Amino acid sequence: MTDMLVRLYDMPEVTPLVQQLGDRGIVIRIARACEKHLVVEWVREVFSDGWASECEVAFSHQPVSCFIATEAGEILGFACYDSTCKNFFGPTGVAKIKRRLGIGKALLLSCLHSMAANGYAYAIVGGTGPADYYAKTLGAIKIEGSVPGIYRDKLTPKKAEQSDPGGGYQKEKPASG
Ligand SMILES: CC(C)(COP(=O)(O)OP(=O)(O)OC[C@H]1O[C@@H](n2cnc3c(N)ncnc32)[C@H](O)[C@@H]1OP(=O)(O)O)[C@@H](O)C(=O)NCCC(=O)NCCS
Repeated sequence: MTDMLVRLYDMPEVTPLVQQLGDRGIVIRIARACEKHLVVEWVREVFSDGWASECEVAFSHQPVSCFIATEAGEILGFACYDSTCKNFFGPTGVAKIKRRLGIGKALLLSCLHSMAANGYAYAIVGGTGPADYYAKTLGAIKIEGSVPGIYRDKLTPKKAEQSDPGGGYQKEKPASG
């Protein structure tokens, strides 16, 4: 669960991937303010309260610093930036049944291109779960000494997390947040 560093000046294009997904009916776009309650609740149900809180912060920005993947009006995945901390990418997640289709990468690159456009030269992926995924898609490198990083001295939730409230999706224990 180390933090990882990404070079924003040396990234693959995102447009071809977004177009490929679009051809199969999957839309990658910035979440709208009017969708906040839907996106945050989806993140809570599928992932965790902590990620839902971080996602809410993304909706406090204008433009909203959260991208979503949708298909026929349903959310398939999300990704935030400048939420956990300034210059951090994450949290992000894709519904289990829709993984390995390129959705995670399209959301990731959409966020990182926005960060580059905002003037950042590097981004930090906070508390990475799948380090290989970030190394493979972006050439991200681990930041030494970043465990537990900002997640030290974390508050402990009082209520037990529900195991499967997500309408068919399996709620997951996230890597961070
Ligand atoms: C990580 C996650 C967002 C990836 O989403 P995804 O839609 O399956 O990813 P993609 O299909 O865009 O994968 C892009 C590439 O990374 C590879 N990849 C995907 N998940 C990977 C993993 N866990 N480890 C290594 N490589 C991975 C894919 O094979 C693909 O390679 P290719 O371009 O050669 O085909 C998704 O697995 C997820 O939601 N995980 C649970 C939440 C989580 O861990 N979030 C990250 C916290 S830091």
